[in-house]
Amino acid sequence: MNILVTGGAGYIGSHTCIALLEAGHSVIIADNFRNSKPETVEKIMDIAAKEVIFYEIDVTDAEAVNIIFKNYKIDGVIHFAGLKAVGESVQKPLDYYYNNIVSTIVLTKACQKYGVNRFVFSSSATVYGDNTVPFVETMDLLPTTNPYGETKAISERILTDIAKADPSFSISLLRYFNPVGAHESGLIGEAPNGIPNNLMPYIAQVAKGKLERLRVFGNDYSTVDGTGVRDYIHVVDLAEGHVAALENLTEGVHVYNLGTGKGSSVLELVKAFEKANDIEVPYEIVDRRPGDIASCFADASKAKQELGWIAKRDLITMCRDAWRFEKNYKE
Ligand code: NAD
Ligand code: UFG
Repeated sequence: MNILVTGGAGYIGSHTCIALLEAGHSVIIADNFRNSKPETVEKIMDIAAKEVIFYEIDVTDAEAVNIIFKNYKIDGVIHFAGLKAVGESVQKPLDYYYNNIVSTIVLTKACQKYGVNRFVFSSSATVYGDNTVPFVETMDLLPTTNPYGETKAISERILTDIAKADPSFSISLLRYFNPVGAHESGLIGEAPNGIPNNLMPYIAQVAKGKLERLRVFGNDYSTVDGTGVRDYIHVVDLAEGHVAALENLTEGVHVYNLGTGKGSSVLELVKAFEKANDIEVPYEIVDRRPGDIASCFADASKAKQELGWIAKRDLITMCRDAWRFEKNYKE
């Protein structure tokens, strides 16, 4: 299939482009490099030893998006392009609502216009709010605590309504848990701008000596050791989940958790990183981070049953691959 991958130069998008190419699909990337670099497109082609087509466009720009649909016979869209920094979304809500929601509307309108009915959307476990773990797709969604989370919940509702009104649409809403790690080549991975918000890149930068020590946000949650529990999933497993979702699309809207089904605490991740890489990660316990929940992990059985997909890579592999990338990465 010819797949339009929006945000294909980003962290999850780049790994998914490789998985798509390896599965025999053709890839057209649309990205404006707001949070990525053009070199990543080159690296995707190097790793997969295949060409991709690339458009530097903003996917909120309907005219630019329509040109791609006019020029190529698109069979499906995977829509990663979006802004994702929770804290920034509180400071710049309009930027987040506009970018993340208008892009979804522009792309689905182009799909309708050009008769493209396969659509895979990057959603997030954040839409579950503070539900009881494990999170199951059938749960009622609870309010999220920030505009970023709202953009995912609203996009899910828009796509659900579109699929209801137009039964020819096949839409998959993928709720990611906590993607970490990097491609085993060490060539692509997560390279956040500035000080990382997320745990794994923060740990990796402490290990590198770029940051002094990890600040563990609270050790008084009701979890195994008091620190927050999350479902860390290797980004390559996540990428393979997209190929499975795309290849198993059926009419209507379908929601899948993409996680491992297993939660790990902050301190368990620190220990795994130290063990995997034989390196020390100094840390201190500080106050809880506002908006955090105690535990977030998936019931991953629906994706296994319906897509034949499971996450295969363990925590040690995630830590090893994250470190290999960080060690080699030059700003
Ligand atoms: P990322 O920032 O690395 O990738 C997003 C890409 O989209 C970037 O290359 C950016 O330049 C591009 N982009 C943003 N707005 C654009 C626009 N208007 N037009 C064209 N390109 C645009 O982020 P990621 O971690 O790869 O996340 C991909 C998707 O998955 C996002 O929608 C994100 O919200 C979602 N998600 C991520 C996580 C996570 O922890 N990484 C968790 C759940 C959901
Ligand atoms: N944490 C620390 N210190 C840090 C960073 C994080 O202790 O410096 C802790 C957090 O308190 C939390 C855990 O590590 O307990 C994971 O935090 P992350 O920031 O890495 O991830 P979150 O679970 O908060 O959020 C991530 C993405 C969201 C997405 C969500 C889906 O950032 O965009 O996963 O589950 F919605």
